[in-house]
Amino acid sequence: MDEDPDTLLKDEITPRQLYFSRRKFLRLSAVMGVTAALAACGVTPSASGTPQPDVETPLDTIEHYNNFYEFSTDKGAVANLVSDFVTEPWTVEIGGLVNNPMTITADEIISTYTATEHVYRMRCVEGWSIVVPWDGFPLNQLLAAVGVKPEAKYIAFTTLLRPTQMIGQNDPFYPWPYTEGLRLDEANNDLTLLVSGLYGDPLPKQDGAPLRIVVPWKYGFKSIKSIVKIEAVADQPATFWDTIAPDYYGFYSNVNPDVSHTPWSQATERRLGELGRRPTLLFNGYGDQVASLYAGMDLNTNY
Ligand code: MTE
Repeated sequence: MDEDPDTLLKDEITPRQLYFSRRKFLRLSAVMGVTAALAACGVTPSASGTPQPDVETPLDTIEHYNNFYEFSTDKGAVANLVSDFVTEPWTVEIGGLVNNPMTITADEIISTYTATEHVYRMRCVEGWSIVVPWDGFPLNQLLAAVGVKPEAKYIAFTTLLRPTQMIGQNDPFYPWPYTEGLRLDEANNDLTLLVSGLYGDPLPKQDGAPLRIVVPWKYGFKSIKSIVKIEAVADQPATFWDTIAPDYYGFYSNVNPDVSHTPWSQATERRLGELGRRPTLLFNGYGDQVASLYAGMDLNTNY
């Protein structure tokens, strides 16, 4: 986990690229009907209704194009700044309004819960997107183990605060540590993952090692990295981006092509590695699984 990511990549580049090509072939075969069963997230309907293949973004891109403000606001610089970041040992505190609060190591979480692969689209509010084979398990398994009390309505998440290694945290403009939150039913949705790996390997540090949250129907900033605290709370928690720019970044931040509270449109996106732009889908294409969570809500007001 603590190797230099560049060394890791050089050592493993051949098998990983072969792995990627094989997976790409399988996924494209599925789209073209060679295989009857389409992977759950393998195909995105386009605006015209024609399926578009969701080819997984190469590992090299996922590892070298990162938003991780604790290190830098320069996406290309993050991978070079994480080498001294110590992610072992790592402890996560799970508490607040729960029956069995616990302080547990990342290793214990990883060995207790079975991680499986989930290929999800991730859409950043900046207008780019990637497709990532995450290894993780539904967060609801951990929440069930701690027993969330009925008075809890939200789950709050906190990233590590360690400015000696996370050098971006020395910038006093930002409200460190990075925090995020979900409504309890969103946190309990099967799509919401606690992730410990991608492409079958432990999570690279720049992608949120050792544990991060992934919420695929929301803009990427809700998928908080390198978490040390999970708390069940009664009131909607303050979040990093909502604190900095509440008009741009609402608490819900569901992917929505029709609602642009940012100065730029959210109607289309650039899939990294593709030319041109593709239409952005409501709930990032996961409406079947999550639209019912927002029944009766005005998504323009509750952005
Ligand atoms: N989590 C923390 N702690 N700090 C961050 O700066 N950036 C967010 C999110 N989680 C961020 C974070 C944003 S804006 C995005 S788009 C995704 O992480 C990017 O994840 P990736 O670098 O693994 O693609």
